[in-house]
Amino acid sequence: MEYISGKKELRRLVAARKKQVEPAERRSRSVPVMQRLMALPEFKRARNVLFYWSLPDEVTTHETVQYCASLGKNVFLPVVEGERLLIRGFSGMDSLVPGESYSIPEPVDGALQADILDMDLVVVPGVAFDRNGGRMGRGKGYYDRLFADAAGCFGGGPYKVGVCFDFQIVDSVPREPHDMLMDAVVFESGTEIIRNENRVCGVFGIRYPVISGGMVWCSGWRLASAVSAAGGLGLIGAGSMKPGLLKEHISKCRAATDRPFGVNVPLMSPYATELMETVIEERVPAVFTSAGNPKLWTSRLKEAGIKVAHVVSSSRFAAKCAEAGVDAVVAEGFEAGGHNGKEETATMVLVPEVRSAVDLPLIAAGGIVSGSGMAAAFALGAEGVQLGTRFALSLESSAADSFKQLCIGLKEGDTMLALKKLSPTRLIRNDFYGKIEAAEAAGASREELQSLLGRGRARMGIFEGDLSEGELEIGQAVSLVRSLLPAGDIVRGIMEEYRKAVAGMQVL
Ligand SMILES: Cc1cc2nc3c(=O)[nH]c(=O)nc-3n(C[C@H](O)[C@H](O)[C@H](O)COP(=O)(O)O)c2cc1C
Repeated sequence: MEYISGKKELRRLVAARKKQVEPAERRSRSVPVMQRLMALPEFKRARNVLFYWSLPDEVTTHETVQYCASLGKNVFLPVVEGERLLIRGFSGMDSLVPGESYSIPEPVDGALQADILDMDLVVVPGVAFDRNGGRMGRGKGYYDRLFADAAGCFGGGPYKVGVCFDFQIVDSVPREPHDMLMDAVVFESGTEIIRNENRVCGVFGIRYPVISGGMVWCSGWRLASAVSAAGGLGLIGAGSMKPGLLKEHISKCRAATDRPFGVNVPLMSPYATELMETVIEERVPAVFTSAGNPKLWTSRLKEAGIKVAHVVSSSRFAAKCAEAGVDAVVAEGFEAGGHNGKEETATMVLVPEVRSAVDLPLIAAGGIVSGSGMAAAFALGAEGVQLGTRFALSLESSAADSFKQLCIGLKEGDTMLALKKLSPTRLIRNDFYGKIEAAEAAGASREELQSLLGRGRARMGIFEGDLSEGELEIGQAVSLVRSLLPAGDIVRGIMEEYRKAVAGMQVL
């Protein structure tokens, strides 16, 4: 990474740049392309855009950077350096003011940095670029000229200087934006946009197929909006809410992010009908239903233009989802936190079962807390992942801090599936769990278990932090979570790990 140092140098470069390329000439080539792009929804939605046209066409570079910066997008461009073609990222195009110092101590956009650190250098067959006369592609001066170029875009007004990053070599052109964390790829012709073909991203209009599951007492608007803002899909968990409170969370989530988010409505909630009326009235982008029959609400939600996913623990129920016309299905294995399927099918078995039962966009859940877990789920046929435990232990989760602290110290085997006669629930082994275990061993009936459980125990444990008598729901993979991070970092970290896991996988 290099920076422009000194305003004198910058001014000189800007002046030279302006002399070199007249405004009319500058506009001549790329503006029509930009106009076409502007109309495309993929482009409007995109945050990071890779322009796959060749340099040293400074005209194109100049217009591209100017245009995208004005829309708050991060720009990636191929540039020639010696014998190599690199993809470079540019961001933060308006944070510096003329006359100030131009050194940027840290990348201006942590998100961008995380996104692209793992990106590959691309060697492009057949792209015409001028290796010898490349005005933009030579040594250290390259950066200066490039920054000056960007600065020149703002015609002397407040402008920003971008930060550059380097990448490594790969031997093929990335056709899938998903492979490179791109929302869209624009080719030299300017007409071809590669869509993100991941179906889960497509259905929900998101960038990464990473979903934070609805979780009683954990997933309010703070968590949901943080996940959505980072490019995943954050769900507000309505299971612990009355309709009025849900409405409030929806409106706060909307104020916090303009990205799509969703609401999880467990159909066993005593307020299920009113909660559904609320989400329909509010026209939330997505609803994830769970713990009930997918046929109950799917058509009404879809009539209201809401995307619907349903959580299942068996392929039999996945088939019902397909009949009900849901947009996506979540296959949640028995490792998961919260309520589980009676059949205790683990994610490793459930995902391929559901994959072969239905052709719906498939989201895997249960036991996934990392990018390698995500890669494993994808290998089994999933197209997205829903994480509960990992996000319950994020900074934005509304769970009690004492609960979070307890969780990050737990070891393998510290959670058990209990209450099988009622609704199988994965719990931390605490005093309350000990009582349930003893009652179950003594053959307690449903009624006896219900009276032992009482009401409001999940709230007492997860939200209020009664670690001894509360019902402490968390997933088996809690033993793999060792720190509490911001939810956005979790989303980005998972994508980075996913990429590394796939790239590092041994091919036999
Ligand atoms: C504390 C907690 C509460 C949960 N509450 C709900 C809920 O209200 N509705 C629901 O559909 N799933 C609920 N879940 C399940 C999650 O949405 C998610 O599918 C599951 O946690 C994924 O497995 P994992 O915990 O291994 O990541 C809950 C999970 C946890 C950990």
